[in-house]
Amino acid sequence: MTQHLAAPTGHSTPGTHTGWWRDAVIYQVYPRSFADANGDGMGDLEGVRSRLPYLRDLGVDAVWLSPFYASPQADAGYDVADYRAIDPMFGTLLDADAMIRDAHDLGLRIIVDLVPNHTSDQYEWFKRAINDGPSSPLRDRYHFRAGKGENGELPPNDWESIFGGPAWTRTADGSWYLHLFAPEQPDLNWENPAVADEFRSILRFWLDMGVDGFRIDVAHGLVKAEGLPDIGGAEQLKLLGNDVMPFFDQDGVHEIYRSWRKILDEYPGERIAVAEAWTPTVERTANYVRPDELHQAFNFQYLGTPWDADRLREVIDVSLAAMRPVGAPATWVLSNHDVTRHATRFANPPGGTQIRTAGDRELGLRRARAATLLMLALPGSAYVYQGEELGLPDVTDLPDEVRQDPSFFRAAGQDGFRDGCRVPIPWTTTGSSYGFGSGGSWLPQPDSWSGLSVQAQSGDPASTLELYRSAIALRRELPGLGAGESVDWLPGMPAGVLAFARPGFVCTVNTTGRAVRIAAPGRAVLASTEVTPADGEVVLPEDTTVWWAV
Ligand code: NOJ
Repeated sequence: MTQHLAAPTGHSTPGTHTGWWRDAVIYQVYPRSFADANGDGMGDLEGVRSRLPYLRDLGVDAVWLSPFYASPQADAGYDVADYRAIDPMFGTLLDADAMIRDAHDLGLRIIVDLVPNHTSDQYEWFKRAINDGPSSPLRDRYHFRAGKGENGELPPNDWESIFGGPAWTRTADGSWYLHLFAPEQPDLNWENPAVADEFRSILRFWLDMGVDGFRIDVAHGLVKAEGLPDIGGAEQLKLLGNDVMPFFDQDGVHEIYRSWRKILDEYPGERIAVAEAWTPTVERTANYVRPDELHQAFNFQYLGTPWDADRLREVIDVSLAAMRPVGAPATWVLSNHDVTRHATRFANPPGGTQIRTAGDRELGLRRARAATLLMLALPGSAYVYQGEELGLPDVTDLPDEVRQDPSFFRAAGQDGFRDGCRVPIPWTTTGSSYGFGSGGSWLPQPDSWSGLSVQAQSGDPASTLELYRSAIALRRELPGLGAGESVDWLPGMPAGVLAFARPGFVCTVNTTGRAVRIAAPGRAVLASTEVTPADGEVVLPEDTTVWWAV
């Protein structure tokens, strides 16, 4: 295989659109569940490659893929055993090369997932650290400690794993090692220079392969507070929590990102990095995207905001204000592989990001469509999680025996319902796994997904898929829709209605459950529910967003 520094062609060709990432729509592919080319029931890179034209037609700028590296899959690939190899389940390095090249030929950029907080327990370093015994110098690349108690039988501190249970596991020789996630995901010690060297080399490996960027997993977790202090009485962290903790959002992480930025900047074509950083505030998130650090950070505060006009307006204002001083674009995201899909969150009363009940599906979809048009009208970069363009709900009734999320098992079924958003997506109305592949699918799809398939929705102007296609195309056409650093809120709206102006454009959002009459701000160009303005007025149906050209 030849290495290359290919630059994408097409609309996002570097040079013709510098700062491509500032207003990019980035589509998340969860490789297990996107498309299965070899018929083993599990998605793969060849499957992704075969569906790239679909993503080009959807109009997105870039594709972020969750991990596809060699991994025992204790946490669906977020436990990496070899950062420079593809898991055979997903294909080969040649497949990755072909996928990157094809994407570039189609004008799509490729962002890969980097997992630097922890390795797999099957990573060479960790295996040797265990096998070579307590004196192994490789133990310093992780957090090995003696236990507390008379015979060291108690964990070294009181931290709990985000997946449930203690954050420490005892080895056969009696020492303990730290894992913020599953025991199969030992945390790396970023104070050890070999760790930093290794990750700089891994970055270069993938940059040389031609990727356009990285999504940094647990970007806020790499550095732990000196001495690994007890939390004491503080409430333990959940996967998506955001309290101040001695293992998260420590100031030392920023030095790492400054060194990575230098590497990214050495490569042509504006290679980027986006932080998965769960920080207590958006202001803390902004620290990750200072001019000499990463380019973007996920806006989880936005993701967690309920369908409520005041709360939405507040989070939008706070997000834009936090990013302005550092000059980074705000980002917007509604769904990903770790949270209940927004069509299901909005179908239920507000209740965080992990929802277990199907709720009122019709209401959820209606709000999800409106929420998407709001998101795509905001300045900055937007993330779309595979299947949301089909309006997919979470599968809330998966039988326990098919579940694979490690947190489900570690938390004794109290937690860990992430499988519900990871069910393979339907491409066709009939056939094995609705066109996902020829050999079934690793999680069962509901029968109702035939009607939600790409085939069923393509060409139907009322479908959610066509709404996404139109919105993304318009976002590109309406000058400056994704650019800028602020929105102008329009005064005088009824309670529960948001209206804001952007250059040549107004977006109105009715978050209430009743129709509301307002003066038509312009010519309606797109709406999440049909609207018919007349005589300079319009009745905004309940839970509806409308885009207006002015
Ligand atoms: C965040 C990832 O998105 C999630 O899926 C994973 O379980 C944890 N990080 C641990 O890597």
